[in-house]
Amino acid sequence: QLSNGSITANIFPSAPAPLKQPFVIGVAGGTASGKTTVCDMIMSQLHDQRVVLVNQDSFYHSLSEEKLKKVHEYNFDHPDAFNTEVLLSCMEKLRSGQPVSIPSYDFKTHQSIESASPVNPADVIILEGILVLNDPQVRDLMNMKIFVDTDADVRLSRRIQRDTVQRGRNIQNVLEQYTKFVKPSFDEFIQPSMKYADIIIPRGGDNDVAIDLIVQHIRTKLCQHNLCKIYSNIFIISSTFQI
Ligand code: CTP
Repeated sequence: QLSNGSITANIFPSAPAPLKQPFVIGVAGGTASGKTTVCDMIMSQLHDQRVVLVNQDSFYHSLSEEKLKKVHEYNFDHPDAFNTEVLLSCMEKLRSGQPVSIPSYDFKTHQSIESASPVNPADVIILEGILVLNDPQVRDLMNMKIFVDTDADVRLSRRIQRDTVQRGRNIQNVLEQYTKFVKPSFDEFIQPSMKYADIIIPRGGDNDVAIDLIVQHIRTKLCQHNLCKIYSNIFIISSTFQI
């Protein structure tokens, strides 16, 4: 049980302990660029590794009564909309092998909701969100930085579809929000963060070749890490027997 009262469950009770230092991947990109699809593809191809996904969306600040009344004037695409302090602390804990409770966020009420999700430490941690490459402290946590680069018109049409079907919005609100906040913030904060990426994936989840190469690289890195551990163990054993 964690200090905030939430219960964590070990979803891999019989698996060996995770690597000492997990491999952290940041996946950024504009709204509806296909970040989630890219993460799902990486996770399913790394099926034999312990991988956890952390969404930056989980760390949105809840809106106060006052702000809720003027929700159409609130910029959800500005870095200040996120509680980056809590995000950093969760990521640091996961990196040091501790389980964490990740807040849950409701896009319909614009509130963080009670039921936090338990996340166990893993060998690979993927942090996904529009602005994960914007903050230098968040970037510093990452071993690999990915930017999903999808055309703005494709993103807008997906966003209209998603927000009207899943997030309880109407088309007019979606378009107003896009013009007033989403696009200007993309131009000011998200697009410029692309320069920090190690890999830029055009067309998002449709780009099988890029995903294959990324997964291959992660496997190589994890393998090198494991070999280092094995070699250092052999060294300790052999030096113990040296006279
Ligand atoms: N947002 C919103 N209302 C809130 C909180 C966030 O409309 N209460 C919007 C922000 O405007 C922001 C978007 O949610 O642009 C961030 O989510 P997005 O990246 O679009 O979602 P993903 O599912 O991660 O996108 P992808 O399709 O790339 O996986």
